[in-house]
Amino acid sequence: MHYAAYFGHQRLKECFHKALEEQQNVVLQAGSLSDSVRDFTVSVSKGLQQSPPVLECRFLYDARGSDLYEQITKQPEYYPTRTEAAILSERADEICTLTGPCTLIELGSGSSVKTDYLLSAYQDRYANICYTPIDISAHALKDAGRSITRQRPDVQVVGIHGTYADSFPLIRCASPAMVIFLGSTLGNLTPEEEQAFWSDIAANMQVGDHFLLGVDLVKDIDILEAAYNDRNGITAQFIINYIRRMNRELGTKIDLDHIGHVAFYNPGKEQIEVYIEFLKDQIVTLPDDQEPIKFACGERVMLEISRKFRLPQVIGNLASFGLHPVRTYIDEQEWFGLLLLEKRE
Ligand code: TRP
Repeated sequence: MHYAAYFGHQRLKECFHKALEEQQNVVLQAGSLSDSVRDFTVSVSKGLQQSPPVLECRFLYDARGSDLYEQITKQPEYYPTRTEAAILSERADEICTLTGPCTLIELGSGSSVKTDYLLSAYQDRYANICYTPIDISAHALKDAGRSITRQRPDVQVVGIHGTYADSFPLIRCASPAMVIFLGSTLGNLTPEEEQAFWSDIAANMQVGDHFLLGVDLVKDIDILEAAYNDRNGITAQFIINYIRRMNRELGTKIDLDHIGHVAFYNPGKEQIEVYIEFLKDQIVTLPDDQEPIKFACGERVMLEISRKFRLPQVIGNLASFGLHPVRTYIDEQEWFGLLLLEKRE
């Protein structure tokens, strides 16, 4: 697995095309991530000055954050990963038959553990399968790429270290393709961001391409809230790690012993909301001589939403982007849905 330097959009596309043609195993780095500290600084200063204050969740996934997230997925209360994996393991062969041979492009691939059910099915059935994981965590991408090339030497891996937006133009080069978006990460986008996401995706998909979408469904509030308040405190550590990263990379000097994590379900918006809470008055210093920001004890900063879905609404919305369900899978408890969609019209 080798690393190519940071590329602008056009170069990235050319290199992706070349990697596919020459069947290289490679990680291409999108130019958008070439100055992550700068991005982080701008995002944090802007977010904290907003009212109410917010922090962008994409910065949760530094090396430690990605590891903590992996641990969250194994907590007894965090049912989504387990439930989705069970559906995938049962249905991978069927999905593989329905789509035919195609390039598998995964958004926010993380450890790629669940995706292995698909890789196994596609590899058994078709020759020359290519897997393109896209992630903002170089660390997660590297580990996943290594383990796949070791276990499945027949599968070509072209990783993209970048944002979702970096990868959209690449879908075009990869057709026939199936875009994979698991873990209900869709729910981490606001409704407005979600619409922009689908419109960009749909514009880059060709008729006959597929999309595999995992969505967490609206359910009993206690089950939902427990999933974001695990007894072992891993979610809390994951959230606090964001502030640790701010202290390290931006010098914000926040007292980690006096912040906490708060997560609850907002039934009106049908979403889990995750916040950092200040447990005493604190002053947050910012880089580049920017004005420090004061936070009072009890004040909260929103870090993440995780929207929960209803399948008829999801399907109705996707139809307006030319994405139509080929199969809808759901577990016995009706907790999690997996949709195989096809681009038509
Ligand atoms: N996509 C995951 C979800 O919405 C991400 C996630 C799980 C998460 N636990 C979290 C994000 C805790 C922030 C905090 O379920």
